[in-house]
Amino acid sequence: MAPRRRLTTFDAFSKTVEDARVRTTSGGIVTIVSTVVIIFLVISEWRDYRMISNRPELIVDKTRGERMNINLNVTFPTIPCDMLTLDVMDVSGEQQTEITHGIMKTRLSPEGTIISTESLDLHAAGAAPHHLDDNYCGPCYGAIPKEEEGTKCCNTCDDVRDAYQAVGWAFGDGKGVEQCEREHYPERVEAVKHEGCNIAGHFSVNKVVGNFHFAPGRSYTSPSVHVHDLNQYTTSDVVHTFSHQIHHLSFGPYHDGIVNPLDNTVKKTDERNFNYMYFVKVVSTRFERIGQAPVDTNQYSVTSHERPIRGGRDEDHKNTMHARGGIPGVFFSYDISPMKVINHEERPKSFGSFLIGVCAAVGGVLAVATVVDRGVWEADKALSRKKTI
Ligand SMILES: *[C@@H]1O[C@H](CO)[C@@H](O)[C@H](O)[C@H]1NC(C)=O
Repeated sequence: MAPRRRLTTFDAFSKTVEDARVRTTSGGIVTIVSTVVIIFLVISEWRDYRMISNRPELIVDKTRGERMNINLNVTFPTIPCDMLTLDVMDVSGEQQTEITHGIMKTRLSPEGTIISTESLDLHAAGAAPHHLDDNYCGPCYGAIPKEEEGTKCCNTCDDVRDAYQAVGWAFGDGKGVEQCEREHYPERVEAVKHEGCNIAGHFSVNKVVGNFHFAPGRSYTSPSVHVHDLNQYTTSDVVHTFSHQIHHLSFGPYHDGIVNPLDNTVKKTDERNFNYMYFVKVVSTRFERIGQAPVDTNQYSVTSHERPIRGGRDEDHKNTMHARGGIPGVFFSYDISPMKVINHEERPKSFGSFLIGVCAAVGGVLAVATVVDRGVWEADKALSRKKTI
């Protein structure tokens, strides 16, 4: 008994004796109202506590030597796949010409339906020469550098094209070239000339300034110039254009927090010699979501420019170099921002401050309710006393 009694001296909540209490209707109303208010306040306090806020943060990107994936899906309705090449080059000197790895080319009929899809990995192996004599050594039609004369053979149409390319000659539709006729190359060119092409897939680049482009014809790069063989494109009796639809273009892994501004872009032209340029600024972005592994990816902003090409062709060589007036095609040049955005999700309120909020709500409402109830009761008493007088 003794310890209990000692504790009672600490009781800050001294109780009134039940007999002295009265219950009133007004008190009941005040109780119901204050209970509703308390419930409402506690719910909003809970909401506040569960709220997730996104705190973007900008830091200098200190990562080095990274690579990034470029994911793309572009349709060219008026250029057959055979005529289209995708080249990538960057300031580090890395060049990937006629990219094949990880890219699918889909042949499209003039109406836009799919004819066939080929992974370029397989295609790159090239057509094997058909039943040729072991001693066969096809002519290269003079497209041989002096030092290799007499030693080099061109056994397939591809060999001849490569040889032409190596010396910077334009290669037509293969008519009159024995190897190509044998492989029915001219017929193939003829057969697909009304087709379109979809290119989709991904490739990896250094995370430095660079560009990738879709241009007609095979490309050839010497130390100073990057040349495309435009002969087929410009001399074809069907008008090929670089009208295109970008279904998708993104840099790095997918994340639902990223909006890619070039997705579903459609550009149309009737001109053969037309050049599209997209200038892309890539911004590294990291998403840190509560309960998820962080994702490092990139977002980008883009400006674009398009123009017809006039007088850019170098008639003598039937090749056009990038430096002179440009060539028809779709060019993407990308630049890497030095800043990195970190989207950091967090709960700004701790559980402790939630509890404090709840206590404040309950205590505050009860205190106010007591005052109101008391006031009403006193007023009621005063009124009834007046009446009786
Ligand atoms: C490219 O985009 C088109 C249109 O949205 C879609 O039908 C096609 O499946 C995509 N290709 C790839 C490889 O994702």
